[in-house]
Amino acid sequence: MTTIKKVWVFASGNGTNAEKLFEYFKGHHAQIRITGLFCNRPAAGVTEKARRAEIPVFTLTDAELEMPGNLLRLLRDQAVDEILLAGFLRKIPDDVVKAYADHIINVHPALLPKFGGKGMYGMRVHRAVKEAGETETGITVHLVNEHYDEGRILFQASVAVLPEDTPETIAEKVQRLEHLHYARACEQYIAP
Ligand code: GAR
Repeated sequence: MTTIKKVWVFASGNGTNAEKLFEYFKGHHAQIRITGLFCNRPAAGVTEKARRAEIPVFTLTDAELEMPGNLLRLLRDQAVDEILLAGFLRKIPDDVVKAYADHIINVHPALLPKFGGKGMYGMRVHRAVKEAGETETGITVHLVNEHYDEGRILFQASVAVLPEDTPETIAEKVQRLEHLHYARACEQYIAP
């Protein structure tokens, strides 16, 4: 018997990666079903994308999220098996990280271990890559543990950074890689 994994996507912003995940796993997948979007900002663009994809949206305020037990209870009530972070910019509570060890995946917009850690997200990463004069950057899909961006790396893909690139063009290149690879990398790990 095939067991279906219930997967939630966590996102805080525009949600272009979340949308790709919704599309990739939509209905057709035998072993993976996205059963919820968790978002800490009810007005974020990603919530509209989830509604369009007919995926239920769950939210907690930042204060609720910080209170131990709240998010974990919600995840358990909804029988969530796996969590995919797609631009989720709040810290995952420690009790959730512990309970879901090896079941939380993140995509980071650089080649870890470079350009990771607390405060390194979105455009900040691309600006740092440009300032460091890197000749390549990329994406890292990794498991989440109690240390920011230090969990086991599952997948990386790289792209050249040319002298004429700006943080904005670097962001576009990296986003293309994310959209191309993130869903498949998650699938490989969850249901190979
Ligand atoms: C993505 O580039 C993702 O890698 C990044 O946030 C962006 C969200 O974009 N995540 C981090 O920086 C986490 N450290 P999206 O809302 O368009 O999917």
